[in-house]
Amino acid sequence: MLKVCNLTKKTPTGDILKDLTFEAKEGEITAVIGASGSGKTTLLRCLAQLDKDFLGKMLLGGRDLSSLSHGEIGLVFQSFHLFPHLDILQNLTLAPIHQGMSKAEAEKKAHKLLSQFSLKTKAHQYPGQLSGGQKQRIAIARALIMDPPILLFDEPTSALDPELVNEVGEIIRSVQDPKRVIILVTHEIRLAEKVANRILFLDHGCLLDNMESSQFFAKDCTKLSKRAQKFLSNLS
Ligand SMILES: Nc1ncnc2c1ncn2[C@@H]1O[C@H](COP(=O)(O)OP(=O)(O)OP(=O)(O)O)[C@@H](O)[C@H]1O
Ligand SMILES: [Mg+2]
Repeated sequence: MLKVCNLTKKTPTGDILKDLTFEAKEGEITAVIGASGSGKTTLLRCLAQLDKDFLGKMLLGGRDLSSLSHGEIGLVFQSFHLFPHLDILQNLTLAPIHQGMSKAEAEKKAHKLLSQFSLKTKAHQYPGQLSGGQKQRIAIARALIMDPPILLFDEPTSALDPELVNEVGEIIRSVQDPKRVIILVTHEIRLAEKVANRILFLDHGCLLDNMESSQFFAKDCTKLSKRAQKFLSNLS
């Protein structure tokens, strides 16, 4: 279980995250949604320990997230962040080898993931030779190579053709694991509705709604905050 307690992110111009407290379960996909500027990426950056300047506690199975090693927190960025001068196999194996995994083992894991994501033939191609959807799958494979107990996605579909939203949804579902917490930040409400078990709705850094996805997207929306009702009605 991921437990986030009283997470607050302060800046000189105001608080970006305000006293967020929630839990996310292993085996589930927890989607974070909210308007632009509501604090979604900031939340992910704190979870990923890219931003350590926050107040509050974040525990995974009782361990403080700051004590996890680099490969234990998988992060998939919206713009993929692949190294253009390295081939796909090197992109996948760079971090694990740096973390001490043998080259042979890292390559074995990389080939297994390439096969799982139907990219077997791409091992020795370069990112520039791949489509956006393929690059996204490589970015996901790279985040998975150390078998992380927590996997974070920031807007995984925003750089892709809308037709690929379903495909990315299938991939995210396929990496669900009873031992893994998945947090998905997305603008794409259809994606959240399709894959998430739980929805967290952020507004101006506050967590206004935290409920099962089926309840969040139910026809009767009177259980949602007024802000979430408005947010959803603006989309339809
Ligand atoms: N380092 C920082 N210092 C000050 N303000 C910041 C900093 N980083 C982000 N912000 C502000 O915090 C707010 C939340 O930003 P954040 O990027 O988390 O939003 P978001 O929900 O991910 O938005 P989007 O949907 O557009 O990606 C914004 O108002 C942003 O301008
Ligand atoms: Mg963002």
